[in-house]
Amino acid sequence: MQVIIFDDAQQVADNAAQWVAELITKKTNPVLGLATGSTPISLYQQLVLKYQAGEISFKNTTSFNLDEYLGIDEDNSQSYRHFMNENLFNHVDINKAKTFLPTCSQGENPREQGLRYEEMINNAGGIDLQILGIGANGHIGFNEPTSSLASRTRIKTLTQQTLSDNSRLFSPDEFQPTLAMTMGIATILDARYVLLMATGENKAKAVKDMVTGALSAVCPASALQMHENAIVVLDKAAASQL
Ligand code: GLP
Repeated sequence: MQVIIFDDAQQVADNAAQWVAELITKKTNPVLGLATGSTPISLYQQLVLKYQAGEISFKNTTSFNLDEYLGIDEDNSQSYRHFMNENLFNHVDINKAKTFLPTCSQGENPREQGLRYEEMINNAGGIDLQILGIGANGHIGFNEPTSSLASRTRIKTLTQQTLSDNSRLFSPDEFQPTLAMTMGIATILDARYVLLMATGENKAKAVKDMVTGALSAVCPASALQMHENAIVVLDKAAASQL
């Protein structure tokens, strides 16, 4: 695990954008694994700026997102599809038909949908670079603590902590999903490179457990200790307990 500590969140975003830019300019048909949450928003802003400056193109990029809520439509403003459209896809030249999120609509079989998503990733040649954030409880994607380290794309119930951490994004009268479809930990570990971004003091304990704690399903992000090409980019606050 390579840990890089920057002074502030902007530098974290700039560095992460460089990794993505390098991949999509050098590889012929790059496959990106994408993440939602507040942390990667500044990364996506940097990528949009690079695209607008003519430095990068997403024309040949395929993307797979880590997770998606269950129980809301993709055109709901809380869906991760909506998030990706608003923060990245609508502003760059990516072919939206080649952007995927793990979904399971009513009436569909969750197990089959999970397997299908895994197959789609494999058929695209596997993920070259997976972007990750980290939950305050150490979750990656929506792999909550005690998720199997061998897990694949499936439905997970969100923990109270995650629901309360994310409640800031929902208005009081809005439905907050409690279930999500998420890549598994083994799915994430299959990516050739994994780039985890963490900023802010509230991530410091999770970062400490991920980097210096025991490899354990109690901290799902600690699974990255097993990955040969895991890069962790932090600001000083997120690194404060290392
Ligand atoms: C969400 C997402 C994760 C994300 C995490 C942290 O629940 N499923 O992919 O990394 O929470 O989000 P934030 O960056 O907003 O702190």
